[in-house]
Amino acid sequence: QQPQPPRRGAFIVFEGIDRCGKSTQTALLAASLPNSLLRRFPDRTTKTGAIISSYLSHPSSSSASSPSAAATPSPPLPDEAIHLLFSANRWESAASLTALLRAGTNVIVDRYAYSGAAYTAAKGGGGGGGGVAGGLGLEWCKAPDRGLPTPDLVVYVDVAPAVAAARAGYGEERYERIEFQEKVAAAFAELRDERWVVVDGTRPVEEVQRTIEKVAREVVAKAGMEPLREDLWC
Ligand code: TMP
Ligand code: MG
Repeated sequence: QQPQPPRRGAFIVFEGIDRCGKSTQTALLAASLPNSLLRRFPDRTTKTGAIISSYLSHPSSSSASSPSAAATPSPPLPDEAIHLLFSANRWESAASLTALLRAGTNVIVDRYAYSGAAYTAAKGGGGGGGGVAGGLGLEWCKAPDRGLPTPDLVVYVDVAPAVAAARAGYGEERYERIEFQEKVAAAFAELRDERWVVVDGTRPVEEVQRTIEKVAREVVAKAGMEPLREDLWC
């Protein structure tokens, strides 16, 4: 018998609109799944993350007139530029994510490229359907993330925008407006693929957790038999 290389870990992504319960559920899964590690995007601890965090803290209507930028106001970031920064923020972590996965760690992430594409496409006229290739169409939005590590599982925590809006803290960040979140949800729906599992985020926290943990354990068992793919949207 040849010595076996270490089983690779599973790459599990959580997606959903703001305040859908992703952060609660990612933390619960990381606590219950052996040999797992939790990351989130945007990763606000890096240089690109600091720019993104500052962008998100400003309301979309008055980004040029923030009091904190009073001394030397910089022009607001165009939608295209912030989109590329979100993508760059993922590419900064790509090598460390694949290294962890290859070493056998299960990596759970709170948001990934699907958020990247869905949120920007929602600015470009909702959903980005109809084969729109330029502007902020869905294909344009997906392009910078092409070739990132491909998740084994995408857990979509499904909550209606009106329900999410009633949750604590809603409206603190830039995108937390119901009409916008409706467009984000429509764009997410266009991104669904065979790796997605949709869970009802309005069920009790423990019930949602059990559902997710069951699927995640199956995916972890299978991931060890399949090579890690670095071909997202290729
Ligand atoms: P968070 O609430 O999960 O920290 O994410 C911050 C916001 O950034 C949230 O409204 C979703 C949005 N977002 C993007 O617009 N593009 C991206 O690539 C990611 C990861 C998040
Ligand atoms: Mg948020």
